[in-house]
Amino acid sequence: MSYGLLKGKKGIIFGALNEQSIAWKVAERCHEEGAEFILSNAPIAMRMGELNSLAEKTGSEVVGADATSIEDLEKLFDAAVAKFGKIDFILHSIGMSINVRKGKHYTDMNYDWLEKGWDVSAVSFHKVMRVAWEKNCMNEWGSILALTYIAAQRTFPDYNDMADNKAYLESIARTFGNYWGERKVRVNTISQSPTPTTAGSGVKGFGGFLGYAEDMSPLGNATALDCANYCITLFSDLTKKVTMQNLFHDGGFSSSGVTQKVVSKYDTE
Ligand SMILES: NC(=O)c1ccc[n+]([C@@H]2O[C@H](COP(=O)([O-])OP(=O)(O)OC[C@H]3O[C@@H](n4cnc5c(N)ncnc54)[C@H](O)[C@@H]3O)[C@@H](O)[C@H]2O)c1
Repeated sequence: MSYGLLKGKKGIIFGALNEQSIAWKVAERCHEEGAEFILSNAPIAMRMGELNSLAEKTGSEVVGADATSIEDLEKLFDAAVAKFGKIDFILHSIGMSINVRKGKHYTDMNYDWLEKGWDVSAVSFHKVMRVAWEKNCMNEWGSILALTYIAAQRTFPDYNDMADNKAYLESIARTFGNYWGERKVRVNTISQSPTPTTAGSGVKGFGGFLGYAEDMSPLGNATALDCANYCITLFSDLTKKVTMQNLFHDGGFSSSGVTQKVVSKYDTE
C-alpha cells in the first residue's frame, strides 16, 4: 500500500546486500512512497551483483562507497548532489564485526578486528554525516537514520563487540544530532528486533535470540518490512520534531520484564 508519504523526496540508502537486508525493504518501500534515491554499498558487496536488480526495480542508481572512506563518501555525495541537488534523507544500515564473524570470544577480543568493526559499524555513521555536513547537502526538515540493536543497553551472549559498537553509534546520533538541529535536520537510531538477515544470522545462537525475543514481545518480533515502514514515517514530514532519539521498534521487547508466554514455560505448578 502506498500513501505517497515521500513524494518528491530524495535520499541515499546504504546497506542493501540482498532481499533479506533491512535496507532492501526500505528501498522498496521508499520507492513505493514516491522517493528517489541512490543505493550504496561497499565495493566488495556490490561485486555480488544482487543490488543491480533492486536498482532496476526502483529506478535508482548504484554508487559504491566503503563507508569508512571519506574519499569514497565525498564521491558518493557529489554524485547525489549532481543528480538531485540537496537531499532529504539518509539511511545508514551498515554493520560488521570480524570478532563475531570469526567466533572470537569477547573475553579474548582481537583489538585490530575490534577497531575495524567499530569503524565500519559506528564511526562510519559519523563520517557519513560529516561529509553531508561539509557539503551542506541536506534540505531543511531532512532526516538521517541508522539501525541499532538493544545490546547497546543490555547484554546478549555472543553479540560480542557489536554491543559496544551499537552503544557508540547511538551516542554519535545524539551528539551529531545536536549540531544538525541548527540546520533543521533530525538524526535518530531505530533499535530493531532480531531479524533474519546476513548480518543478523552471523551472530552465534541467532535462532535463540529470535525465538526468545518473539516470546518476550507482546506484539511479536518486528520484521524487516515492519522496520522499513517505520523508516518511511521517520523520513516523512509527519515526524519533523523527532530527533536525537533511540527509537525501539521491537514489538514491546524493550519494556517487557517477563511475558505470560515465558512464565508458562517455567511455571511447573
Ligand atoms: N538483523 C538483525 O537482527 C538486526 C537487528 C537490529 C539492528 N540491525 C542492524 O541493521 C543494519 C543492517 O543489517 P541487516 O541485518 O540488514 O544485515 P545485512 O547484512 O543485509 O546488511 C549489512 C550491510 O552492511 C554493509 N557493509 C559492511 N561493511 C561496509 C562498509 N565498509 N561500507 C559500506 N557498507 C558496508 C554490508 O555490505 C551489508 O549490505 C545493521 O546496522 C545491523 O546491525 C540488524
